[in-house]
Amino acid sequence: MLKVTKASTISGSITVPGDKSISHRAVMFSSLAEGKTVISGFLPGADCLSTISCFKKMGVNIEQNGDQVVVESGGLDQLEEPHEVLDVGNSGTTIRLISGILSGLPFHSTLVGDESIAKRPMKRVVTPLRQMGAKIDGRQGGEYTPLSIRGGQLQGIEYHSSVASAQVKSAILLAGLRAEGTTTVYEPHLSRDHTERMLSSFGVEVQSFLGGVSIRGGQLLVQPKQIQVPGDISSAAFFLAAAAMIPGGSLTIKNVGINPTRTGMIDVLREMGADLELKQERVWNGEPVADLVVRYSALKGIEIGGAIIPRLIDEIPIIAVLATQAEGRTIIKDAEELKVKETNRIDAMVSELRKMGAKIEATEDGMIIEGGAKMYGAECISYGDHRIAMAMAIAGIVSEGETIIQGDDAIYVSFPGFDDTLKQILK
Ligand code: S3P
Repeated sequence: MLKVTKASTISGSITVPGDKSISHRAVMFSSLAEGKTVISGFLPGADCLSTISCFKKMGVNIEQNGDQVVVESGGLDQLEEPHEVLDVGNSGTTIRLISGILSGLPFHSTLVGDESIAKRPMKRVVTPLRQMGAKIDGRQGGEYTPLSIRGGQLQGIEYHSSVASAQVKSAILLAGLRAEGTTTVYEPHLSRDHTERMLSSFGVEVQSFLGGVSIRGGQLLVQPKQIQVPGDISSAAFFLAAAAMIPGGSLTIKNVGINPTRTGMIDVLREMGADLELKQERVWNGEPVADLVVRYSALKGIEIGGAIIPRLIDEIPIIAVLATQAEGRTIIKDAEELKVKETNRIDAMVSELRKMGAKIEATEDGMIIEGGAKMYGAECISYGDHRIAMAMAIAGIVSEGETIIQGDDAIYVSFPGFDDTLKQILK
């Protein structure tokens, strides 16, 4: 368990581990390209290690040492039928993206995961992949794991996704790489576009347009030899929030990815009144990166909904904490996707923040928080969800007394070393 107490202030200069979404894709796409790729800044968290383990079981040679990974592959056509089940652990990105890849390969495979994965919806990828020609089975008609996939020749499709999900979009695009003709995915709002950017850096033509993206089948990936993964803005978000809401707070976070499909947190912080600067903007393998400098200033409640939601979907737990320290009401809406993350993040945040005295209520598609309530340390649980555990740790440093987070081992999914980084900046 993790114990935190109220901080007098926070300051310093830190880095955060590599971006989870980009680390997954770096390993996956390097495994689909012939030759050797060196990845640095990789996130050595449980989720991305699950991706490595799945590709090793398909015959790819992968050496991982901390944040350095070397992938040597014979290319997509050389992937082998796995002898064992592919275990994705807690990782939704692994299972959904791999399903797209496996759908176009002429063999059978079975995907399993942990208790949380077993409850998460898979039809959102299974339905379009079946339409393309893949044979996929799973519990309740293919909604839940274990999934069993028999891939083969696929047909390109035009697919209108009802959710703005990069996992869905990416699964279809990856299947589209092996399909006859062109595959097009439309989504209601733009979701993170790391797949599109990284496929381009592997020499694949991907056409993005307003409302969707297309890919022509039969293209080969040509590895760029080196990939440098930026720091994860979703991990930086916990410390950005901490510095913005603790009087006297001042923090620099270096080398953070600022892909515009991921920077909803920056927009929210600014709209709430935070003092935030972007410095040293540059581009790594098609991904924009900057150093973020944030200082405390008085915050006010705001309304968050619509197209910004996919741009900050993983940051909503920490935004809820931020809202408890702002003046006035914060309304978060259009965020029903939170119910199908690692846990139901609406229920989890409402229940845990209430234990601490926050005024927060759940709505059908989000939550409403009345800022300014005095908060007290409490015994919280993570629900096995890394982002709930970290959000509650940050809530603990703005609350009187001691906060205990049970199930903090979940943090290892995306942020190994979170508690050390926290200790480093606490004053
Ligand atoms: C991810 C996409 C998002 C996000 C998840 C990572 C990705 O999920 O919540 O943490 O890497 O594509 P959805 O696509 O389900 O919204």
